Amino acid sequence: MARILVTRRLPAGALDPLAGHDVTGPHPDDSPMSHAELTTAAAGVDAIVCLLTDTIDRAVLTAGEGRLRVVATVSVGYDNVDVEAARKLGIAVANTPGVLDETTADTAWLLALAAARLAQDAEKELRSGLWPGWDLNAHLGRDVHGSTLGLVGFGRIGRAVARRAAGFDVRVLHHTRHDTHEAGYVAELDTLLEMADIVSLHVPGGPATHHLVDARRIDLIGATGVLVNTSRGSVVDEVALADALHDGRLFAAGLDVYEREPAIHPRLLSAPRAVLLPHIGSASRATRLAMAQLATSAVADFLTGRVPASLVVGSAGAESPT
Ligand code: GLV
Repeated sequence: MARILVTRRLPAGALDPLAGHDVTGPHPDDSPMSHAELTTAAAGVDAIVCLLTDTIDRAVLTAGEGRLRVVATVSVGYDNVDVEAARKLGIAVANTPGVLDETTADTAWLLALAAARLAQDAEKELRSGLWPGWDLNAHLGRDVHGSTLGLVGFGRIGRAVARRAAGFDVRVLHHTRHDTHEAGYVAELDTLLEMADIVSLHVPGGPATHHLVDARRIDLIGATGVLVNTSRGSVVDEVALADALHDGRLFAAGLDVYEREPAIHPRLLSAPRAVLLPHIGSASRATRLAMAQLATSAVADFLTGRVPASLVVGSAGAESPT
């Protein structure tokens, strides 16, 4: 029987794959474990099931050295885990690819539509009691139908976003570091940003993509463009984005992720034409259950000597399918 730390409450049924093991945590009130608590707990367990909000860094992994064998994060992104340290310490890392693609792609479209059509600002006016009535010239957004969508990253989620484009008669372009040899591939990111009306980000977080979309690139998307981010907040320079919205150099933005979650930069909070969601990209009941089950199954598999399909250690630095 292995001892397994589950850092937060999982949906009902998600712990079933761990039956027969000694599961410890989460806090009774489901509050996040501090870094010190994670470090202490890591020293006494064979496996950790964590969320993307748990920072499993070198210190936590090192504390587990000798006993800790696998960390599974209930997320497709795994920038919360120091994968290089895990690899060096011989600790496996698993994530939850594949099961959240469609739900997250729905969220990207939700943001694209809401941002392009200024739904947030219009709703705010209505809720505040300030709506004067139907106005030919008010809340004039940009059409999504007939537009060009530029996908930055073309993994599973990017492709799920692309599949939805046909119904809106949206032309899809995509950029990745390596040529996909598929229709719509654009070799230069800057070119894609210039060509697209709506840009949607689907690259992993981490140092390689930090501020990939900076002030200069936001200006390439331009005053008629819409930026959608359901990947990681660190991919976009949030202050530059807020400045561009305030100055009218970007038409609109739809964001689900932020640089310092749950803190949101005040300038972004006050920015016009911004739809801001609290990182709910994969938040449907069915998908969150599937993610949690995939993570606990990966741990159960690993502990019984089977190699989980969702293992990421060994492929650090490779483009994740976000
Ligand atoms: C969500 O952001 C995830 O990585 O699963």
